Amino acid sequence: MSTTLDETGFGFDSTAAEVVEGIDLSGKRAIVTGSASGIGIETARALAGAGAEVTLAVRNLEAGERTAAEIGDGARVAPLELADPASVDAFVAAWEGPLDILVNNAGVMAVPELQTTAAGYELQFATNHLGHFQLALGLHDALAAAPDGARIVSVSSSGHLRSPIVWDDIHFAFRPYDPWLAYGQSKTANVLFAVEATRRWAGDGIYANALMPGGIRTNLQRHVSPEAMQRLRSGSSLRFKTPEQGAATSVLVATSPALEGIGGRYFEDCNEAPVVDRRPEGSSGAVARYALDPEGAERLWDVSLALLGR
Ligand SMILES: NC(=O)c1ccc[n+]([C@@H]2O[C@H](COP(=O)([O-])OP(=O)(O)OC[C@H]3O[C@@H](n4cnc5c(N)ncnc54)[C@H](OP(=O)(O)O)[C@@H]3O)[C@@H](O)[C@H]2O)c1
Repeated sequence: MSTTLDETGFGFDSTAAEVVEGIDLSGKRAIVTGSASGIGIETARALAGAGAEVTLAVRNLEAGERTAAEIGDGARVAPLELADPASVDAFVAAWEGPLDILVNNAGVMAVPELQTTAAGYELQFATNHLGHFQLALGLHDALAAAPDGARIVSVSSSGHLRSPIVWDDIHFAFRPYDPWLAYGQSKTANVLFAVEATRRWAGDGIYANALMPGGIRTNLQRHVSPEAMQRLRSGSSLRFKTPEQGAATSVLVATSPALEGIGGRYFEDCNEAPVVDRRPEGSSGAVARYALDPEGAERLWDVSLALLGR
């Protein structure tokens, strides 16, 4: 099916609770990474509210336990540090049984100075993409075992419009480090992941889509000064959403019957976004063609495997 999904009936103002209303997730199991903060909390809350058993995959266990207690029945906590491959492996090893929904939500944005992981990988790429790639790879069999098929939700950003993957210098070893180019590159990787995961795994009943949640005031902006935020917003059409609205597109992509058998696409404001060949003036509302490029997606998969030594 190739029809664009741009009339879902939901939009900018829709909340996660509205999007999942009437959908029964009883008996389904979900993981939401980075769900002790921001839109991850609201994503987990909406999925649990619809009856799913939700694992909050978090690095701050205290905050995770607080969130789980607040959500109540159906939420549990497990440790996950995405920048540490050993932690991702441990999370995967501890997982038992099928998995219906994996929401790769955690992220860091605009880390001011170049930071690298123990393996020497740029931190935003390592956290936002590589850690989630490793997680999905490790959970493949659990996803394939989901009785009604499984979904992977890859939380990207309109920030992807700032940079394609710079294949010859992913880790800023030669070019000057730029916090926004690094963020943009990592968020392009989130979209390309959805494209290639669907190509490889649709036969196993696993579909992956990417999305831009909107602009939401959360801890994500911890590295951005109010002045820089102002500069970024000037000339941009960005209106802020509440966290409940910010979680809506993730929850739609995770649960909507309209996305049955659909993968490798990019959504924003609960609808599929148009593809562009040039950065749009409003800096959002569209997906760059390079982020959906099947060849780039396949290349990133191979590069990521090599970086993980797999
Ligand atoms: N907010 C926006 O305007 C916006 C716009 C576009 C896209 N997004 C995307 O939406 C997603 C959620 O962002 P948010 O706004 O909800 O931000 P947030 O409140 O900062 O939440 C991000 C979560 O990711 C976790 N995280 C960061 N690095 C991690 C690591 N190495 N291992 C495990 N967890 C890690 C954080 O944990 P700690 O709390 O321990 O740091 C936090 O719980 C991100 O992928 C972001 O890029 C957000």
